[in-house]
Order: sequence, then C-alpha cells, then structure tokens
Amino acid sequence: GHTRVPLIAGNWKLNLDHLQAIALVQKLDWTLKDGKHDYADAEVAIFPPFTDLRSVQTIVAADKLKLAYGAQDLSQHDSGAYTGEISGAFLAKLDCRYVLVGHSERRTLHNETDEVVQAKTAAAVRHGLVPVICIGETAEDLEEHGPSAVPVAQLKAAIDGLAPDADIVVAYEPVWAIGSGQAATPDQAQQVAAALRSTLAEVLGDEAAQRTRILYGGSVKASNIAGFMREPDVDGALVGGASLLADEFAGIARFSQ
Ligand code: G3P
Repeated sequence: GHTRVPLIAGNWKLNLDHLQAIALVQKLDWTLKDGKHDYADAEVAIFPPFTDLRSVQTIVAADKLKLAYGAQDLSQHDSGAYTGEISGAFLAKLDCRYVLVGHSERRTLHNETDEVVQAKTAAAVRHGLVPVICIGETAEDLEEHGPSAVPVAQLKAAIDGLAPDADIVVAYEPVWAIGSGQAATPDQAQQVAAALRSTLAEVLGDEAAQRTRILYGGSVKASNIAGFMREPDVDGALVGGASLLADEFAGIARFSQ
C-alpha cells in the first residue's frame, strides 16, 4: 500500500449542459454520501465542459460539497488575440483545482503535439492549477514500441522544465482502452505506472515521484476498479463514460467497499 490519497476523476467530455450538470452534481453528492456524512476514501473530481463550470462552482460553494472540479483543457496563452481560447487564470477564478492537459482526443482531433502539451502543463502550474497530464499509447505504438516507451516519452516532454515541487497528476490512458470497453489489465496498468514513476524520479526527483498520483484511464467501471486500485503504483482512475452516471461513478469512488 501507498500513502497517496487516491483520486477518482470523471471526464465528462462533450456531455451535459449546465442544467444537467447541476442535476448530476447533486445526485452524485447524494449518492457518495449514501447516508454517511463523508465521501469515500478517495478525492473525487469532475471535469465538465467549460460552460458548466460557473454553475458547478456555485453549487459546490453553496452546498459546501467535498467535490473538486476542473476543466478539460486550457490555453497555453494567458491573454490576447486567441479566439475561442480559455486561460488558466479564468479557470483559477472559477475555483478549479485541476485541469486536464493532453487528453488523447485533443492530441488526435486537435493536433496537440508534445510541445503544446508541455506549454499547457506549464500554463496550468503558472496559474495555480494542478494539471492532470494525460498520456498513452495507441495499439500500433504498443505493437511497435512495447508498453511503456510512448507514455514515458510523452510524460518526459510534458514535464520538461517543471520545478521539482510542482503539483501535478499523471493519467495513463492507453488509447486502445478509451471508450472501447476493453480496459487494460491491472497488471498492464501497473507495469506502465511503475515506469512513469521512475520517469518522475529521474526528471523531478524522488520526493515528487513518491508524492505524485498516477491514474489509470480507459473503460474503468465499478466492476473493474478494485483490481486497478490494488496495484501499488496506480493511485486512482480517470473515468469517461461511467462518470456520467451517478451510481456507477460513486461505485468507482467507493472502490474499497
Ligand atoms: O479521460 C477518460 C477517458 O478517456 C476514458 O474514457 O469512457 O473509456 O472511461 P472511458
């Protein structure tokens, strides 16, 4: 066992408008509490669309919910002529704690390179947000380079230039496991997570490596979360589809029960 506080994170992707967000947050909070006064042993975070964040901020503050939240992306720039972009400063003003960076869908559909992911990681840290750095290999990468090479290279690029005390989270999401119903095995996830932790030690030092949480993502469900959480280097999950259902996501957050 490790001492890092587990993080169960829900990436809503392009789902749920702000009214639906309010409904899900309320239901999720209710389900997580489930008659008790506290949440599960994990920190729980949600990543709704940008346009939901103000509503989520309001309800979390008004009802004093123990729910963290963040955006699915941010600009590498702080201000200026960047039509359509959202800055880290704007997200910090909405009390976001986290922000996803480099999700595979952004790398693939929006041509985000390792350089862009590095710049966004730095922008997040600059604004006091915790970047959840998403990395992962495609099926072809896996065949060509083996399990860890591509995720390790992506992580190295993303954290280049960070201070050793930077607060970050790493999310290992094999592209072949995202939305496919074909999750990696706990053993596969552990193997890559261990390689990623060594990379953190190499680049940022031992303290950072021991403190930083490494999540697994890709077809995580209430029925398979326990296996991942038993692995020593897997500190939580980044959940897509299953995070849109209060009961299922709460079941994931209660992995130990
Ligand atoms: O960011 C989480 C996501 O990519 C995983 O999606 O639907 O396979 O849980 P899903």
